[in-house]
Amino acid sequence: MYKFSSLRKPSVYFILGGPGSGKGTQCELLSKNLKFVHLSAGQLLRDAITSNSQHKITIENCINNGVIVPSHVTINLLDKAIFDNLSSETFLIDGFPRNYENMQSWIELMDHKINFKSVIYIHCSRQNMILRIQERSKTSGRSDDNLQILEKRFITYQNDTQKIIDHYRNLNKLIEIDGDNSINIVQAQILELLNKTLIHS
Ligand code: C5P
Ligand code: MG
Repeated sequence: MYKFSSLRKPSVYFILGGPGSGKGTQCELLSKNLKFVHLSAGQLLRDAITSNSQHKITIENCINNGVIVPSHVTINLLDKAIFDNLSSETFLIDGFPRNYENMQSWIELMDHKINFKSVIYIHCSRQNMILRIQERSKTSGRSDDNLQILEKRFITYQNDTQKIIDHYRNLNKLIEIDGDNSINIVQAQILELLNKTLIHS
């Protein structure tokens, strides 16, 4: 594990929402607008497959069944990505924590060395998410962007991720955004709500 030795801990926002809710798109824009660093948990896992990680088979199996990769694998990738990049102060972690195990392991392994800010939750109608994934599947090259696996990803989202969203809502740590609007409107809403929380924190 990577040790953090600077005085100032990096700040972390989590971004959650269903498949196709716009997490990646909005994080890319936020990283330009606010100079935050965007880390996609899903992309780090896909990169680990490409680079022949020792966990390649496990990751592939999970992704192709729409289920969550064991937390130690994902957290190890996030840990490296954050602490290899200490020039940045604030990170947007997209698609994490997806289940209770993700959240508990993060608290155990990472919480003490980062400054957790809040969770940005982009909620979106299922109809829109399906349409967006269908569109994205034409160019994404992702093995899980098809209707069969998408159905499994929705089940995981409903059974596992919704509980995590509820948990952060109960802690008053959830920034909720209507993701059915256009890309620019959603971005403007996130920026506005982030500004408000920054003023009050
Ligand atoms: O967020 P994204 O759609 O890129 O995630 C794709 C897949 O990566 C998920 O369906 C899941 O199999 C895996 N993943 C995971 N744990 C995370 C994030 C993504 O297992 N925290
Ligand atoms: Mg994504």
